[in-house]
Amino acid sequence: MGKVFYVSQNKCLGILIAAVGALAMIIALSIAYDKEKAKNQGRPGDRATDSTSMPTHPTTEFTPKEPWDHYRLPDSLVPVSYNLTLWPWLEPNTDGLYIFTGNSTVVFRCVKETDLIIIHSTKLNFTTFHGHHAKLSGLSKATVPTIQKSWLVAKTEYLVLQLHRRLAVGATYLLHTEFQGELADDLAGLYRSEYTEGGMKKILATSQMQATHARKTFPCFDEPAMKAVFNVIIIHNRGTVALSNGREIDTADSFIDGVPVKVTTFEPTARMSTYLLAFIVSDFVSIHSNKNKNLLIRIWARKKAIDGMQGDYALNVTGLILQFYERYYNATYPLSKSDQVALPDFNAGAMENWGLVTYRETNLLYDPISSSTGNKEKVTAVISHELAHMWFGNLVTLRWWNDLWLNEGFASYVEYLGADYAEPTWNIKDLIVLYDIQKVFDVDALASSHPLSCQEEEVTEPAQISEMFDTISYSKGAAVLRMLSEFLTEPVFARGLSSYLNTFAFGNTVYNDLWDHLQQAVENTPGMHIPDTVHNIMNRWTLQMGFPVITIDTQRGNITQKHFLLDPDSVVDRPSQFNYTWFVPIKWMKSGVEQQQYWLLQKTDTNSLMRVSGNDWVLANTKVSGYFRVNYDLDNWDRLLSLLNTNHPALPVVNRAQIIDDAFSLARAKIIATTLALRTTKYLSKERDYIPWVSALKNLDYYILMFDRTEVYGALQAYLKKQIQPLFEHFKNITDNWTKVPTGHTDQYNQINAIRTACSMGVEGCRELIKKWYRQWMENPGHNPIQSNLKSTVYCNAIAFGSVEEWDFAWTMFQNTNLASEASKLRSGLACTKIPWLLNRYLEYTLDPTKIRKQDAISTIQYIARNVVGLPLAWNFVRARWNYIFQQYGKGMFSFSNLVNGITTRFSTEFELQELKKFKESNLYVGFGSATLALEQSMEKTRANIKWVTENKATVLKWFTEEST
Ligand SMILES: *[C@@H]1O[C@H](CO)[C@@H](O)[C@H](O)[C@H]1NC(C)=O
Ligand SMILES: *[C@@H]1O[C@H](CO)[C@@H](O)[C@H](O)[C@H]1NC(C)=O
Ligand SMILES: *[C@@H]1O[C@H](CO)[C@@H](O)[C@H](O)[C@H]1NC(C)=O
Ligand SMILES: *[C@@H]1O[C@H](CO)[C@@H](O)[C@H](O)[C@H]1NC(C)=O
Ligand SMILES: [Zn+2]
Repeated sequence: MGKVFYVSQNKCLGILIAAVGALAMIIALSIAYDKEKAKNQGRPGDRATDSTSMPTHPTTEFTPKEPWDHYRLPDSLVPVSYNLTLWPWLEPNTDGLYIFTGNSTVVFRCVKETDLIIIHSTKLNFTTFHGHHAKLSGLSKATVPTIQKSWLVAKTEYLVLQLHRRLAVGATYLLHTEFQGELADDLAGLYRSEYTEGGMKKILATSQMQATHARKTFPCFDEPAMKAVFNVIIIHNRGTVALSNGREIDTADSFIDGVPVKVTTFEPTARMSTYLLAFIVSDFVSIHSNKNKNLLIRIWARKKAIDGMQGDYALNVTGLILQFYERYYNATYPLSKSDQVALPDFNAGAMENWGLVTYRETNLLYDPISSSTGNKEKVTAVISHELAHMWFGNLVTLRWWNDLWLNEGFASYVEYLGADYAEPTWNIKDLIVLYDIQKVFDVDALASSHPLSCQEEEVTEPAQISEMFDTISYSKGAAVLRMLSEFLTEPVFARGLSSYLNTFAFGNTVYNDLWDHLQQAVENTPGMHIPDTVHNIMNRWTLQMGFPVITIDTQRGNITQKHFLLDPDSVVDRPSQFNYTWFVPIKWMKSGVEQQQYWLLQKTDTNSLMRVSGNDWVLANTKVSGYFRVNYDLDNWDRLLSLLNTNHPALPVVNRAQIIDDAFSLARAKIIATTLALRTTKYLSKERDYIPWVSALKNLDYYILMFDRTEVYGALQAYLKKQIQPLFEHFKNITDNWTKVPTGHTDQYNQINAIRTACSMGVEGCRELIKKWYRQWMENPGHNPIQSNLKSTVYCNAIAFGSVEEWDFAWTMFQNTNLASEASKLRSGLACTKIPWLLNRYLEYTLDPTKIRKQDAISTIQYIARNVVGLPLAWNFVRARWNYIFQQYGKGMFSFSNLVNGITTRFSTEFELQELKKFKESNLYVGFGSATLALEQSMEKTRANIKWVTENKATVLKWFTEEST
């Protein structure tokens, strides 16, 4: 769902919280991630832009006394169905307020005797009936108690009705309410969104219910297990179209209170959770397809976008992806239609509302001419993720939010399978190693990480629920489910899954239910053997945090596991019932031959098969199918490195990437020498594949940040120049001197790496090439000749090595473009100039909303700080204007802490640490708002950087100097 970054500090800690050392937690405060993660990650050539973050809500001590003091609903009433009418007004009322009105009748059953009705409701104003907020009736009048009093509880977001008598167990009642709410632009519940098209301001109403916003739209039992059938009617302006989860069955013109309106009635929904509801009123248009039998598939967007055929690609892949899931799950698509809507200025990445999925425009629309391959891949992956939820999550729903990791981890894993079906030539399944596994390894290697699984009681308040949407849930969830599917084999995994989905259709589950069905699938498969039950194996991965580093000593054949921590000095305060040991499935190969999978079930073990000598070598975790890092004895490292140098295709491509990534992490953790990590990059002059290159560049980026203001940088540059040169030449050749687009999907990405790195390392011919393209564009602004994949890189470099003329041209193009993705590529490119006065002027622009939109201000300052020339300017700018920036952005703007993080990424000297301290002291009276934690964390990271630089600088300088000649 929403692109909201949470700073999550005390997740799943429960009563352990007091025991956790404050210092150890500081590093974890930086763990920012995206909800619906795949939605937002920058694909190559598509620089991720604005990001937001939110501080942890402090939990106040409070002992609930009354039933309405609890955040969880009592278990006395269950909903059956709702009749809901909503009327969002797209013009302000006489008070200048945008509102919606509505009424709802919920039919519910009493399952436990009670004289209280407690139902969720927040920020709604009610019409009263005899002084009460609601009318209660029953199927047979005689048995209905009367209402004694009714009131709203703001803190726990309830409407409470105290009755004179008790409700009867087994009886069914009707609760009718009429209400009014604000149609605010707050992106929560039913809300207002605005955009301009053809110079006209347009307003639409749309919704985002996950996790707890349905209650802001109408009174409802707003928990995922409170499934019901919804009969929805939307009243809306003539000239607009209304959409909801069900297919529209009737649209009639009418007058209500003298207002000419349309009344759209929807078919009753399937039995579903409130968080998956969606309501949209807009003047969007659609394209549709009936290729999937009995199923209407539509893509909705602004008319100009649809007319420009930007929805065609999404329509093409949706049918395919749905077909894939029907086969994979062995269950037909449960609804009669599938709508997907692209919303302009949608803060969320995407949201899997059942039958009416919502997206931000860049995640659903694709322009074959102007969009990049990265944009296209993102559309495919996001659609695949959301459609996976139509069954897993929507048809069968986890009972409570503590199991969110299973819902999101699952979709984050199978999205690669669905996308691979739609685009089989892309090899997209391998990319999970980059996008999820390597990413979450870094987060999960902190002492302050947390387990996937939380107790139900640990997650009750809305803020705690929001915190569940983190990178651990999405990416680690995906990684361990992929590992499970790998060791069970995909057919067995899919059989268990299908049995789970069919058993619990339209109902709710806990994660153990999935393990049960997978276990049954194992038992029903002749010859299938795993060393323990699915429960026992998986508990070790879901109930304790972190992951092991597996060390294989190939001289003795010893295998050991140890909890891997990036900072060797950090202290783990969280106890684990499994003592930080795991049941580890190890796929491995010996001298190029795949071996039988080996299970490590204790801390240490011996496997004589892993004893090798001579030229033989061992490679563990083939295809990175397991969630762990691997270390070897030095001899085996040497043999692997020499293999890389002599015959690298002998190792699978993702393992080449993983050897690099493991080595750099092991070096940061002081398990192996820094020089050993650096040696894994020596073979890159022969490497042509994307995944190893990107792993290396990502790891070397830390070296660049730490050293690009020191003499080490010269040597590093010379080395990397030597390494990238052959890749640059390779792409020059296969693209016929840069005139063609490489055919391979990831080759297109690696071409971007080649050009970007070659230009910044000073490879001859690179800058000239880029200048030429950019010149051509400047001479003919109406025709942009730059290949769309290369735009970000070309803009940045042409501006970096150009003059004020190049800058001003990009600025003009930025102001004139109508395409959001184009604007964001230009906006980040503008920050690449090396001319200080231009950077200073650009910094000033960030405080002028007519030049840089307010929502983009912080990320623009971050881009400038990322530039080595821009860093001191941005730091001075922020310090000088802290008071103003804080007033403007410190309170409401969520991306505020990213500003501090962005500026301090490079900090690695005592001087910078002192400056940070001074900054903190001299601005205490202003405050730091949502940047408070980020500031603390920046100081902690600066200290860690100082330490690392001190310990490694001489070695690194020596190594790069020797290797670059
Ligand atoms: C809800 O709406 C349906 C369909 O219009 C109707 O048949 C039913 O009687 C309504 N139920 C209540 C409780 O109003
Ligand atoms: C709900 O509101 C609409 C619009 O005001 C009205 O037409 C309808 O009769 C109301 N329904 C009920 C059950 O009150
Ligand atoms: C709800 O009532 C409050 C208090 O009267 C008022 O300030 C607010 O504007 C009302 N909201 C709507 C949407 O009518
Ligand atoms: C969608 O599919 C049609 C028919 O196969 C094809 O002609 C068209 O190029 C596709 N559109 C996009 C944007 O991929
Ligand atoms: Zn999801």
